[in-house]
Amino acid sequence: MADVARSIFTIFQQKFSTDPLLIRAPGRINLIGEHTDYNNGFVFPAAIDRAIYFAMTPSGTEKCNIYSADMGEGVSFSIRDLNSGETWVNYLMGVVDGFQRMGLPVHGVDCVFGGDIPAGAGLSSSAALCNGFAFGLNILFNCKLDRLELAKISQYAEHEFVGLMCGIMDQYASLFGVKDSALLLDCRALKHEVVPVHLKDYSLLLIDTKVKHTLASSAYNQRRAACEKGVSILHQKNPKVFSLRDVSRAMLYEFQDALGEDIFMKCLYIVDEINRTQQAAELLKKNELKAFGALMYETHWGLSQSYEVSCEESDFLVKLAEEEKETVAGARMMGGGFGGCTINLIKTDSVKAFQEKAIHQYTFTFGIEPEFYLVKLVDGVGVIEN
Ligand code: GLA
Repeated sequence: MADVARSIFTIFQQKFSTDPLLIRAPGRINLIGEHTDYNNGFVFPAAIDRAIYFAMTPSGTEKCNIYSADMGEGVSFSIRDLNSGETWVNYLMGVVDGFQRMGLPVHGVDCVFGGDIPAGAGLSSSAALCNGFAFGLNILFNCKLDRLELAKISQYAEHEFVGLMCGIMDQYASLFGVKDSALLLDCRALKHEVVPVHLKDYSLLLIDTKVKHTLASSAYNQRRAACEKGVSILHQKNPKVFSLRDVSRAMLYEFQDALGEDIFMKCLYIVDEINRTQQAAELLKKNELKAFGALMYETHWGLSQSYEVSCEESDFLVKLAEEEKETVAGARMMGGGFGGCTINLIKTDSVKAFQEKAIHQYTFTFGIEPEFYLVKLVDGVGVIEN
């Protein structure tokens, strides 16, 4: 058992004097396919070896007594009064509400949680938080929901209790992840293909910009609204269009004037990214890592210049990577944007030198030291047997 998991288990025993159910809920990366999930497109994420662990038992009442080990902070709330508290409590309340809306018989729980997913780094600690808690409730109260239903409850919590109109990628990847593989997820069909990831002499290195720009979530919601506006205009021109998945480049150019410059650029990025993601998955299957990496760079500049969700710090790190194209096959900002991590597909024997270069130049420019995470791909949410 991982050290973090053991310590969560021990804290629970000390607080509640009984043995809990123990759950691991991983964070995620995304190889390529950014902002395509809420446009019914493709994404290519994977669960990673950083997780939030949950120790849980029924409390025997309607009260949830929750302790966040990382924050050293406990909260109690009734499942009959899900009024928003602090942000992290909101996520859990949202999950409880999601079960209740489905008419499922959940009751209170005693719970201790904590883990090693850096918060605010774009590694989906919030999806892991919702998924792990939902997975536990599902088992403890025998609700018999499948993984897709759990992913939808977690997404509901984010939409209704936190206000981020996210797609399904993060919740899905954390729940369905497969060791040493990525998931080519079709967000329209909500079905995925498991693609083994053989990186040979390459590694996946995340570089944390350590910045999270304010207004990130309102800007995220605005991007989503811009795509929806684009779809409604295109639907009037062609009633077969229900999402940007149904749109080609040619169609966008045909109706460029009706869309207007801003919406056109946003939609163009999405249409290209949906195609790029399918192309990238084919390249990965053939182990063509250089060509795969080249598409990652393309995605980055699309996100930065057309979709406008990058920031100075992420652009800077991607430019540094581009200077070393021989060793860094691909790099791009990852996740919603406005900070968080870049993901780098880098020759393993160059990791150290590149990290040194990045520390030196990034710190010199922004006065913040970046952090580095080498990640492995793991299975999705599950019970830890003890
Ligand atoms: C966030 C959202 C996801 C997805 C990404 C961008 O992580 O939660 O649903 O839209 O941004 O790809």
